[in-house]
Order: sequence, then C-alpha cells, then structure tokens
Amino acid sequence: MNETVKARTMETNEKTLIRTLKGETLSVPPIWLMRQAGRYLPEYRETRKQAGNFLELCYTPELAIEVTLQPIRRYDLDASIMFCDILVIPDALGQDVAFREGEGPVLEPIQNVQGLSVLNPDGVLDHLAPVFETIKGLRRELPADKTLIGFAGSPWTVAIYMVEGRGGTDGGKARSWAYKEPDTFSQLMDVLVAATTEYLIMQVDSGAEVLQLFDSWSGVLSEDQFRKWSIDPTRRIVDGVRAVHPDVPIIGFPRGGGLMAAEFIRETGVNGISMDANVPLEWARDTLQPLATLQGNLDNQLLVAGGAEMDMTVRRIVDTLGKGPFIFNLGHGIVPNTPPEHVARVVELVRGQS
Ligand code: CP3
Repeated sequence: MNETVKARTMETNEKTLIRTLKGETLSVPPIWLMRQAGRYLPEYRETRKQAGNFLELCYTPELAIEVTLQPIRRYDLDASIMFCDILVIPDALGQDVAFREGEGPVLEPIQNVQGLSVLNPDGVLDHLAPVFETIKGLRRELPADKTLIGFAGSPWTVAIYMVEGRGGTDGGKARSWAYKEPDTFSQLMDVLVAATTEYLIMQVDSGAEVLQLFDSWSGVLSEDQFRKWSIDPTRRIVDGVRAVHPDVPIIGFPRGGGLMAAEFIRETGVNGISMDANVPLEWARDTLQPLATLQGNLDNQLLVAGGAEMDMTVRRIVDTLGKGPFIFNLGHGIVPNTPPEHVARVVELVRGQS
C-alpha cells in the first residue's frame, strides 16, 4: 500500500463524529442528540428509581454506564454522551447542590465575594473520580464505531446556577454581580475555568474522544459581556485542554448566542459549534460552516410533535447543512414528554432510509 492510500484508509477507519469535526463532509451526517439518555425513556426511569437521587445516578459508574448505553441500544446513533450533569462541578467544589423531584437543581446560592469561601478547588478530581470510572467503563462497553463524548458546563452557565441557586431565571443576579463587581465575579469564573479544565483533561485521559462545552445561558449576555464571560473563559478552557491533548475535538454550545457565534468560533478555537433551533440555516451555512463544523438544530418541541412538519424540517436541515461538515442534533436537549418513536424516525430520516 502506498503512503497516500494508507493514510486515506486510516482516515476512513476513524469514527464518523471525529471525521466531521476534523472538517470532513460525509455523505450521511453523523447524528447524536443532546439528553439522549433521560426521562423520555422508560428504561431510564427504571434505573433512576434504583439510584434514588439524581446525583447518586451520576456518581455510580455502573448505573451511569447503563443509562448512557440505553439510547445506543435503541437507536443507530453515532455517538454516546457520558451520563452526568454540568452541576457536578459546583458539587465537587463544595457548594451544596441537590436535585429535587419536579423542581430541578437547587443550590445554596453564592451571591458575593464572601460566598466564594465555601469553594475548595483542591478536591475536585477526587470527588469526580466516579465520572472517570464511568468513562473508562463506557470505552470498554460501547460498540467500536461509537464516539464517546465527554462534557462540562461552560463557566458562565455553571455560575448562573451557583449564583441564582436554581434554574428558570434570567440570570439577573449573576449579570448584576458581573456588572457591579467584575473583579470579584472574575474570581468565581477563574475557579470554574481551572476546575473545568482539569476535569475535561481527566475525561480525555480516561477515554473521552470528543468534548462538548454547554453554555446554555450565554444568550442572556449583552455583546461585551458575552465576550467577557462566554468567549474568554471558553477560550481559556480550550487552550488549557489543548495544551495537554492537542488533537481532541471540542464542540461549543453558546445557546442563544445569535450573531456572536462567528466570533465565538474564531476566538475560542472550537472545532464545532452546536446551534439552537433559532439559528437560521442558510446564514449558518454561509457564515459559520466555513469556520467550523456545524451541529444542530431541530427544535426539541418539534421532536415531541412529530409528523409531517418534523419530517420536512429534518430533511431541510440535512439538505441545507449536509453539504459541508455537519452533525445532526437538536437545538436543545430532549424533553421528558418526547415519544421515543419520534427519535427513531429522526434517525431513520437522517440516515436517508425514507
Ligand atoms: O444524555 C445526555 O445528554 C447526558 C446527560 C446530561 C444531563 N444533563 C442529564 C440530566 C447532560 C449533557 C446535561 C447537561 C445539563 N445539565 C445542562 C446543559 C444542557 C442544557 O440542557 O441546557 C444544564 C443546564 C443542566 C442542569 C440541569 N440538570 C437542569 C436544569 C436539570 C433539571 C431539568 C430537568 O430536565 O429535570 C438537570 C437534571 C438532569 N440532568 C436530568 C438529566 C437526565 C433529569 C433529572 C432526573 O432524571 O430526575
């Protein structure tokens, strides 16, 4: 075999998700779905009962592995995202974090510089050791063609939960702190950048092949604040991870970032960008796809609704974005009332079987 052929063969043996993230356009785009493991699956609800509370599920490798594999058994997805949550970072830092039934996450809020004293960055990796065990177990159990995705929340999004103490807010307390006292707010962000960087490096050491950073609340930031609290911390994390793992593909998800997405890609150096359902497809194709691999962006409520409108939208997304590097996904995570058969339908459509 000559060198070129050998190189090409090696390249085509690479997994689909990694190939697209390196810039390749595939004839059939890879597909995975945010929150592909979760309450919409009866088998998840069953395992969740066994675990007791949600954080126990995240910290029990055997159960976390089981729920990670559940969607892979049902659907022909290209990638598996390890089961965990973005709020294990504040938990590992020593903040009081709980998940209450029907209420979501509840944290003991940190609202000023004095509040930062509860955070202890030293024990983070020890506390998260079960997550690394989950990743190692998944690499053993996942079929060889599936890519294992590790993840973390971006500092701004994690900070919102830490400051507000719960979800479902407009991030007003965090935004106000960041405006009034940027220097002390930076101290919180610095702790998060450092903890998230070491956490992601260990995920890759343990076997994660691709990383995604969820900035689910970047859309509440004004232009200059977006640069300061979404782009800059993301860039520092990407640089920190790449210093140790130069080749690991990283996907950014600056949800609601709108027109800031192009600058986000250029300044952070991410390989891929996950787009919410609001991002116009043709604009994304023309403006963002030359800069990075695109991922997205079916509306998670259209996945609930299903029917002809869903079929048409899936086709339109694939037709518009599939001529360049592209990963099919949702605009935001699967919601609990999603009919599992709609997920099967989307996978079938993306694979072009009908
Ligand atoms: O399959 C996967 O995508 C992997 C697992 C995963 C979870 N959370 C499991 C989970 C991932 C990647 C996350 C990320 C996450 N967690 C984000 C970023 C993505 C996003 O959706 O914007 C955020 C903001 C969180 C914080 C969080 N965790 C909230 C607000 C909630 C409550 C909302 C809800 O759906 O109940 C959670 C809980 C959570 N994380 C559940 C799951 C499956 C449901 C909890 C349960 O089973 O009782």
